[in-house]
Amino acid sequence: MRDFDETNITAAVLDRFAATPDPRLRQIIQSLVRHLHGFVQDVEPSFEEWQQAIGFLTSTGQMCDDKRQEFILLSDTLGVSMLVDAINHRMPEGATPTTVLGPFYVQDAPELPLGAEVGHAMKGERLHVSGQVTAVGGAPIAGALVDIWHSDEDGYYDVQRPAEENATLRARFRTDADGRFHFWTLTPTAYPVPDDGPVGDMLKATGRHPMRPAHVHFMIAASGHQTLVTHVFAEGDAYLDSDAVFGVKNALIRPFAQQAPGMAPDGTRVDVPWRSLSYDFALKPL
Ligand SMILES: [Fe+2]
Repeated sequence: MRDFDETNITAAVLDRFAATPDPRLRQIIQSLVRHLHGFVQDVEPSFEEWQQAIGFLTSTGQMCDDKRQEFILLSDTLGVSMLVDAINHRMPEGATPTTVLGPFYVQDAPELPLGAEVGHAMKGERLHVSGQVTAVGGAPIAGALVDIWHSDEDGYYDVQRPAEENATLRARFRTDADGRFHFWTLTPTAYPVPDDGPVGDMLKATGRHPMRPAHVHFMIAASGHQTLVTHVFAEGDAYLDSDAVFGVKNALIRPFAQQAPGMAPDGTRVDVPWRSLSYDFALKPL
């Protein structure tokens, strides 16, 4: 077949992929062709605009290295990461909702005893975090691995700080016999996603801000259950309704409650103002 024009080229390209042996790959690539052609038919780009689009994707790739993943950021800021998450986590009633992993997770954070303090070398108001891990239905899960990480009071993760500061603002804890955990850390603040690359340019050009509301990341693993990847967000944060990556769910918001100096829940005395956060997590069965 020859003489392709805007009325027949889509069908011709679909036909060219019709013999793809793997049926899932065939479905994916034909759907991509249909939607991409539909997008171009809708937008009717000029040559200059098409060139600009290719330039944008090229610089997005060039921005990536072992510490920076601009394509994940693009997926996050276009809401695609949360859409994929939603499709893959259709939750049973009572299970804690999921949200994005984000770019700052590091495997093998130090495992600390319950009650330990995280983040000595970084700055922030002290935050006491406690909660319980259960199965859907409420049965406590002993020995669940609770992995936590978050930003400091300036909105930076430990991996964004120079190595010589020896900063660690992440840890792992094991729940006790009642499925409970507690630890001290620092109060995170709202922070911008990295906006010095092409995704930042896209946000600026479209009048969007790069901010995420303050949150603590949790990854909770227990045998017989699906690993839960989620955040707990600070109640009252100014960015809850405009999170740059669309990650906020009402069920994940809790007070980071301001507390006066005095006795903390673990019986220690705190001489400065501090905050407390409590969240109970319910894991979905495998
Ligand atoms: Fe985060």
